[in-house]
Parts: sequence; C-alpha cells; structure tokens
Amino acid sequence: MKVAVIGAGAWGTTVASMLAATVDTVLWALEPEVAAAVGAEATNPLYLPGVALSPKLLATDDLRVAADGAEVVILGVPAQFVRGVATELAAHVAADVPVVSLAKGIERGTLLRPTQVVAEVLSGHDPGRIGVMSGPNLAREVAAGQPAATVVALADPEAAARVQALLMTERFRAYTSDDVVGCEIGGAVKNVLAIAAGMVDGLDFGWNTRSALITRGLAELARLGVALGGQPLTFLGLAGNGDLIATCCSPLSRNHTVGVALAGGRSIEEILAGATSVAEGVTSTPGVLELAARVGVDMPIAVEVGEVLAGRSSPHEAIHSLMTREATTELHDLG
Ligand SMILES: NC(=O)c1ccc[n+]([C@@H]2O[C@H](COP(=O)([O-])OP(=O)(O)OC[C@H]3O[C@@H](n4cnc5c(N)ncnc54)[C@H](O)[C@@H]3O)[C@@H](O)[C@H]2O)c1
Repeated sequence: MKVAVIGAGAWGTTVASMLAATVDTVLWALEPEVAAAVGAEATNPLYLPGVALSPKLLATDDLRVAADGAEVVILGVPAQFVRGVATELAAHVAADVPVVSLAKGIERGTLLRPTQVVAEVLSGHDPGRIGVMSGPNLAREVAAGQPAATVVALADPEAAARVQALLMTERFRAYTSDDVVGCEIGGAVKNVLAIAAGMVDGLDFGWNTRSALITRGLAELARLGVALGGQPLTFLGLAGNGDLIATCCSPLSRNHTVGVALAGGRSIEEILAGATSVAEGVTSTPGVLELAARVGVDMPIAVEVGEVLAGRSSPHEAIHSLMTREATTELHDLG
C-alpha cells in the first residue's frame, strides 16, 4: 500500500509524516530543496521549521514518482494550485483511487470548490472517490502530537472508510462523512471569518465580541453551505463549528494573523509581501462573496471582510457597520 501526499506545505507535510508511521508514504514538494531536506534530514525547514518528521517519510520533487502506484492520493496544495497539480497528475492516478483534498478555499475565477476542480480535471475519475479532509487541524499542533480530530468526506463510503483507517492514531481521530460540499464550504468560509476574528482581537475587543462574531459567522457560513447543497448538521460538526472556533481563536491561524495586522493599520499588500505561506481567506473572500450573491445568501461579516481587504473600509468601520444593521430575529435566517 502506497499513499502520495501532493504538496509539502505545513499541513501536507504534517499529514504525510503522520501517515508514514503506518503506511508507505511519498510526499511531493514543489521546491527541490524541501524534498531534499525531508528525505535527508526528516525536516521541512521552509514550511514546518523545528518539527521532526517521521524518518520513514519519503519525498520527491517529481510528481510522477510520487503518484505512480499510489492507492490513495492526498492533495495538500492551496486551492489556487489544485488545478495545476491535478492536471499534471491526471495521467498517473487510476480512476478508482481515492483523491482527498486538504485545501480550504475557492478557485478564483471559476468559483469552484477544490474537489470540483479535481473532478473537472480528472474527468474519468469515479466522482464518489474525490473528497475532502477538513476540521480544526492547525498543522503545528497536530505535528506536535496534540490530540485532534478531523472529518474525511467522500460520497463512496468504502473509500471514506479506507482513508479514515489510514489516518486514525491515538492522537488523531478521523470521522467519516458523505457531505463533501458542506465540509469544503466550511473550510473555505471559516478562513474568511478568521480574518474578521483577527480584526476583533487587533482592536482589543474581548470574548463577548469574539463569541458573537463566531456565532453569527457560523450562521452565515451555514446559510451559504446549505444553499449550495451541504447538510445543515455538518456545520455544527468538526468541519464547520469546530474549525471555525480553532481558526478564530488561535494566533497560529494565518488568516487570523492577517486580521490582526489589518486592525493595526497595515494594508493587505504590505501584510502579504514576502510571505511564503498562504492565507487562503484573502484569496477566497471574493469567491465566497460571489457564490453568496449567486445563490442569494446574505453574508454580512464576509462582506465587511471583503470591504476591508479591498481598502474601502477600515476594521473600525466594518464593526460599526455590522453593529448598526437592521434589527432582526436570531434564528429566522438559518432556514
Ligand atoms: N496550515 C494549516 O494548519 C492547515 C490546516 C488545515 C488545512 N490547511 C489547508 O491546506 C492547504 C495547504 O496549506 P499549507 O498550510 O500546507 O500550505 P503552506 O502555506 O504552508 O505552503 C504553501 C504550499 O503551496 C505550494 N505551492 C506554492 N506555489 C505553488 C504552485 N505554483 N503550484 C503548486 N504548489 C504550490 C508550496 O509548495 C507549499 O506546499 C491550504 O488550502 C490550507 O488552507 C492548512
């Protein structure tokens, strides 16, 4: 049994290192120096500095070497790069191999979820075997062996169970789901909301403000997810509420960090200049807003994040705008 993990960022590397403890795992890195360091020193100094990886983990910068013969493929690149790597992988992945995306975003321009991009590119692939893994999984905490849980969503229950079995350890617990849409929308939208949570922290507001933001954020996340075909209860689970809480509360979240910096008066261009890691919320906000407009869903917090990112509003103005919206009933808009 061989697993290929495509993408050696912080999360792809963490997942690959966990898997390598129990199954032959090959990690593909875009950067040859990352592949070399993982293979020779069991470290990834570029994306996961200071973390000791499984010495059993193999690495390559050749996509074909990683993918050939793999019985499970995990796609660990950010949403905007899924199309590129999937296109290169297409000839090397058999149609019945489970392909699981770790990406939490929306493709710019097409507004497709990462699994939709994969299905489009791997056109003959069994659609039930294209899925997503999502949950409150900050890479550094998982890499440190702290207990954590996730959701593996694939429409094909046998494929979901196979991936689940590979991931389960005493420190990492995977639940299966058949709600690919819900899990993917949860992951994409929580990154947008995390930027808002960072702004709240950066403005020195306390727990009441943060809690109100997370709860009302969950309402708009669930509204969009249900309108796009997700199952309502998914949004109360790990890939919805669970991930939202972690990312809105942790200084390890890059999207949260972006929000704090915006509240400090820096522009998004300054904040992103020279960053190696990706803050998916920044690239996904316009797509999330377009999707919401397309299905007629109101997402006031995401709209304000979009206004601040575009430089049309300040974090203070965004909060003012949210607090002075028309009075309403709490649950009327949850559907
Ligand atoms: N970091 C986390 O804690 C975490 C947890 C769960 C999910 N995720 C999600 O997993 C995905 C990967 O995030 P990450 O944190 O591992 O990434 P990262 O920001 O640490 O690294 C960036 C990744 O993008 C790759 N990349 C850059 N340019 C590329 C290109 N042109 N083509 C292909 N790949 C390219 C890099 O090689 C690297 O693998 C994201 O969608 C993220 O939202 C991250």
